[in-house]
Amino acid sequence: MIVFKQIAHLQKHLQSAKKDGRSIGFVPTMGALHQGHLSLIKLAQSNSDIVVCSIFVNPTQFNDNKDFDKYPITIEEDILLLERQNTDILFLPSVSEIYPQGKKLSKPYELGLIETVLEGAFRPGHFQGVSQVVDRLLQIVMPDNLFLGQKDYQQIMVIQKMIELKKHRTKIIIGNTLRENTGLANSSRNLRLTESEKESAIAIYQSLCFIQENIAKKSISELQQEVAEILHNSGFRHIDYIAIVNAKTLAPLNNYSPSVPTIALIAAFIGEVRLIDNMIL
Ligand code: PAF
Repeated sequence: MIVFKQIAHLQKHLQSAKKDGRSIGFVPTMGALHQGHLSLIKLAQSNSDIVVCSIFVNPTQFNDNKDFDKYPITIEEDILLLERQNTDILFLPSVSEIYPQGKKLSKPYELGLIETVLEGAFRPGHFQGVSQVVDRLLQIVMPDNLFLGQKDYQQIMVIQKMIELKKHRTKIIIGNTLRENTGLANSSRNLRLTESEKESAIAIYQSLCFIQENIAKKSISELQQEVAEILHNSGFRHIDYIAIVNAKTLAPLNNYSPSVPTIALIAAFIGEVRLIDNMIL
């Protein structure tokens, strides 16, 4: 694996690969890599000639400084995992390499409704920061395909919108959410859970399965109430949202109809850790 810290060196290398007609797959990450990331690298490998992974903990997407300070950094383990997975390139830039003119956005991205609901409502500014960094990374790497995980469903919608706004010539390929045997979705934040919190955290997945099983039998508000009970009884101390919405627009639904693409999404705190997960119904 070649590690590049500087944009100019990475671009020189990629330009010669592109001249040879090789396709580039890109997996952006903030490190603290887990099996979910590795499954995206594998997906990228089976769809590209060269795979670039980036590790950059983007300061502009954290609306809560405490969350940024506590974000796990495991760079040595990350490099070993990427090497073991035969990743071609790791891009490991500094903040000044990514934001040479400063971190302030000159003009906000016009993301519309998808920026203001669910994650957007609870983490103001988060999706502007995500758009800013992914826009910059796409300008640098110019990949044919961008690989993103379904766990961050709303993030995928936001990035798709940004790609359209900025006319990037990159296609998004979505990887399935990788789960532990218990159903808990792989996440870098799981590193911050104690063993008993990890056990309780399974309730998010169980809640999504409960919604899936009962979506045609109960009303949406009944499901939301019952799931809130399941989560509280399992030790979740605070719930940001239990949403059952249109999977194309994220607009709320009054009733379930099998002809409307529908998704359930949950965000809730176990101890100090905020977890998210979703299931397409
Ligand atoms: O999902 C993430 O890890 C981040 O939001 C991303 C896409 C790497 C941008 O910083």
